[in-house]
Amino acid sequence: MWMDNEFLQGEMQQIEEQLKKALKTRNKTVQNALIKLQQSGGKRLRPVLTVLGATFGNYDASTVIPLAASLEVIHMATLIHDDIIDDTKLRRGSETLHSMLGRDVAVYTGDFLFTRAFMLIADIAEVKLMKDISKGMAYICDGEIDQNEQRYSKATTVKQYLKRISGKTAALFALSLASGGYKTGCSKRITNKLGVIGKDIGMAFQIIDDILDFTGSESKIGKPAFNDVIQGVYTLPVIFALNSKYKAETEAALDKMQQDAGNSLKEVLEKAGVIDKARKIAMRYVEKARSKTLELPDALGKEIILEIIDQQISRKF
Ligand code: IPE
Ligand code: IPE
Ligand code: MG
Ligand code: MG
Repeated sequence: MWMDNEFLQGEMQQIEEQLKKALKTRNKTVQNALIKLQQSGGKRLRPVLTVLGATFGNYDASTVIPLAASLEVIHMATLIHDDIIDDTKLRRGSETLHSMLGRDVAVYTGDFLFTRAFMLIADIAEVKLMKDISKGMAYICDGEIDQNEQRYSKATTVKQYLKRISGKTAALFALSLASGGYKTGCSKRITNKLGVIGKDIGMAFQIIDDILDFTGSESKIGKPAFNDVIQGVYTLPVIFALNSKYKAETEAALDKMQQDAGNSLKEVLEKAGVIDKARKIAMRYVEKARSKTLELPDALGKEIILEIIDQQISRKF
């Protein structure tokens, strides 16, 4: 298992220390909530990818660690804001920041984290990287805004869905992997390839996240299941069902979500076989990521990236 890799464990420990420093604030209540967010886990996939991408160049922990930490801080900030918008009570198995401290404080806390991410980056990065990171953050916002605009729309297309997840999720995965390579002096060709691989991993990751919203349990995924449809976020399985011969049935099931706790929707998704159909699309991204990774030169991170890619389809949280 890649988590047991000694090199990676050492780097992750340093990243946790950086995170702890970056999350320091003088307000005790916010401080405690941030400590809880850090300690309640999270897979740390984005900083892991940064470290792995960096192994393709001249690895230097003194710059890679702050960079990797900054990407996790950006991720944490987007989670805090995402949970306000999705009105979610649970994150990483703990109460969300906004349900503990209120939406206003949570908005400020997310913003505060963005400033901390930029402070970490400012110490180690040149203007080009700053620009790329800003661009990545803009893509996340664009994707979330698109998603918000498409809420409750039964006319959302697969193309629109793929575009919005490419912004809200895959952009940060691409940035995580590519920035590690860029920072350690990889060629443009390798850095770009790392970006493409990261993007495909991110696409598969979000499709599986969206499937887990239907098939996962709250205790496993650490966040409420079935929240997407309740919030009017129609993801790939629902979009497929709305474009199948079960269209009318799916529409009716969506309309009575509140009354029947989503039972008829579960039934129609099952009947239409759309969870598997969505999983197949995720598999396509996994295969693309895999073949691109095989083209990379040998480096410490290569095998681990392949392992992470292969885990995506079967992951349960
Ligand atoms: C959650 O990301 C947000 C999505 C892009 C689906 P993760 O599932 O990586 O969240 P943590 O960091 O492990 O909690
Ligand atoms: C990911 O989408 C949101 C971000 C990019 C922050 P989700 O809304 O599906 O993430 P979860 O399910 O709340 O973790
Ligand atoms: Mg959410
Ligand atoms: Mg989700």
